[in-house]
Amino acid sequence: MSRRDSVLREMGITPVWRLRSAASPDEPAPARQATLCPVEEPRPPAVVRSPSPPAESAPPPEGVGDVSGLGWEALERRIRECSACRLCERRTQAVAGVGDRDADWLFVGEGPGAEEDLRGEPFVGQAGKLLDSMLSAIGLDRQHDVYIANAVKCRPPGNRTPEADEMTVCQPYLERQIELIRPRIIVALGRPAAQTLLGSEVKISAARGQLFSHRGVPVVVTYHPAYLLRNPQDKAKAWEDLCFARSTFG
Ligand code: URA
Repeated sequence: MSRRDSVLREMGITPVWRLRSAASPDEPAPARQATLCPVEEPRPPAVVRSPSPPAESAPPPEGVGDVSGLGWEALERRIRECSACRLCERRTQAVAGVGDRDADWLFVGEGPGAEEDLRGEPFVGQAGKLLDSMLSAIGLDRQHDVYIANAVKCRPPGNRTPEADEMTVCQPYLERQIELIRPRIIVALGRPAAQTLLGSEVKISAARGQLFSHRGVPVVVTYHPAYLLRNPQDKAKAWEDLCFARSTFG
């Protein structure tokens, strides 16, 4: 079994689907393969939407102050020392992000969970294992050409969904990370990440398969890995979304 096949199995996607380029010419294509080969057959041109106003017109919310000129070290120090919202009260540590600071790919999650709060790195728990498999399925890994960040940098108590005001206060950190990384594509993992990036209410099931834009950077929306662990029947849709991101990037 190839590595891709085992990764897709790990994602819970069976029978194994292959990108068309990976299939042998002698091998009959499985019936469902046609819907899962956007590398050669990208979806029809997707709508590019830009619901959020350009950042220049949005003054930084009060709270974290102006982080717009900060380099990586100063930015991460500000994140570590941040006390701009109630999430600082019960965190072990703030979790800035991980990965390649010059990455083409930026994945944005919701906020640190218990394990991330302890270890100081995003997506290191069960959801992180699935995210690693998802990355691997499209030929990526968290150390190379990928940066992983969250909409909020401190763990919401009990792993609850971050409140809108917490995401708003924390957003300048993510914006500055995006400015520094200058990714070529952003993948929003779940609703809070999508809402932060798109500046509007988002339903993942409705937003999937559309191309959005955040300050000129294409944004693709998919399910959060923790949701996929609870709803494995939707993993195939996440795989489609990743293929869509891959073909958009390519
Ligand atoms: N879920 C997230 O959204 N982010 C993490 O870092 C971990 C779990």
